Amino acid sequence: LAQDNTFKIGLILPMTGQQATTGRQIEAAAKLYMAQNGDMIGGKKVQLIIKDDTSIPDVTKRLAQELVVNDKVNVLAGMGITPSALATAAIATQSKTPLVVMAAATSSITEASPYVVRTSFTLPQASVALADWAPKNGIKKVVTLVSDYGPGIDAEKYFKERMLFNGGQITESLRVPLRNPDFAPFLQKVRDLKPDALFVFVPSGAGAAVMKQFLERGMDKAGIKLIGTGDVTDDDQLNDMGDGALGVVTSHHYSTAHPSAVNKKFVEAFQKANNNLRPNFMAVGGYDGMRVIYEALKVTKGAGGGDALLAAMKGQIFESPRGPMFIDAQTRDVVQNIYLRKVEKKDGQLYNIEFDVIKDVKDPGKNK
Ligand code: DHB
Repeated sequence: LAQDNTFKIGLILPMTGQQATTGRQIEAAAKLYMAQNGDMIGGKKVQLIIKDDTSIPDVTKRLAQELVVNDKVNVLAGMGITPSALATAAIATQSKTPLVVMAAATSSITEASPYVVRTSFTLPQASVALADWAPKNGIKKVVTLVSDYGPGIDAEKYFKERMLFNGGQITESLRVPLRNPDFAPFLQKVRDLKPDALFVFVPSGAGAAVMKQFLERGMDKAGIKLIGTGDVTDDDQLNDMGDGALGVVTSHHYSTAHPSAVNKKFVEAFQKANNNLRPNFMAVGGYDGMRVIYEALKVTKGAGGGDALLAAMKGQIFESPRGPMFIDAQTRDVVQNIYLRKVEKKDGQLYNIEFDVIKDVKDPGKNK
């Protein structure tokens, strides 16, 4: 096929390093989407070019530049962490290349470039729902513990604001480094403070370490509940966390146990293609991101460049494995249901079981 008949997707992911599970999940989901939907779309041959940024933002930026200039990709995608997405935003703007953010979840990312479209979630979106649930369920005094960067700062701020609005209290706000975090001294401090609950945000892949140290310190036995956004009970790790995780309540946009026909089909196909690996919220962000790209390409058939592609991404509405979702045409951010979930055992395995839903949640960060 001639060069101009190809449609290239430059997928930049952390395939190695601290965020490697994010890369593994999104790569597997993108490949599954292509296997299920073919690679001839709108008369173009779709080509996926995967690059490992090791979650170092300078590397993300260099790879994005090379993909745009040398490979002449039609769309950039991936972005495992917020600093990587922010480092790439200017390249998307300068080259008029849509940037589909499949993982990173700081509210402000969509404002860093008019070419950003997001299929993951935002931390304000997930955090507010939990701050509405907690005070109604006996949790009045909370200590927050977040990774000290964009999504953690968002989680801390929006959880706190809503808790105070609801008559709750935040007795301490702790921040732990993103790179090589040691949770022990922070958890010791929380134990001494004895709040009703500890609210946690850590990025995908770090939840198991938090859970282990929380239980080792007997915090649950001391009467301190663990709550957080669903990143902490990440489906990639949850089943290995042990029964100590039972009862942990989180809020998030996706659970592997989401009870819909579309999700059951997705989980089955994903596990079959990936040696039984359980898809997590990162996989769903990648799968839906591919769908947004494919549907836009069907409309433009490759004509009109990045601006036409971007226009065809805005306003897309469809049923994702997570439930209904919508790409808001004004903000280019995802509007979706946020679920309250509790860790329970089902068929001998640990799952985040949804018990309540807040429908069609927009990113609260966009109203400021
Ligand atoms: C981000 C990364 C994560 O792994 C996650 O679970 C949420 C947010 C981020 O860097 O934006």
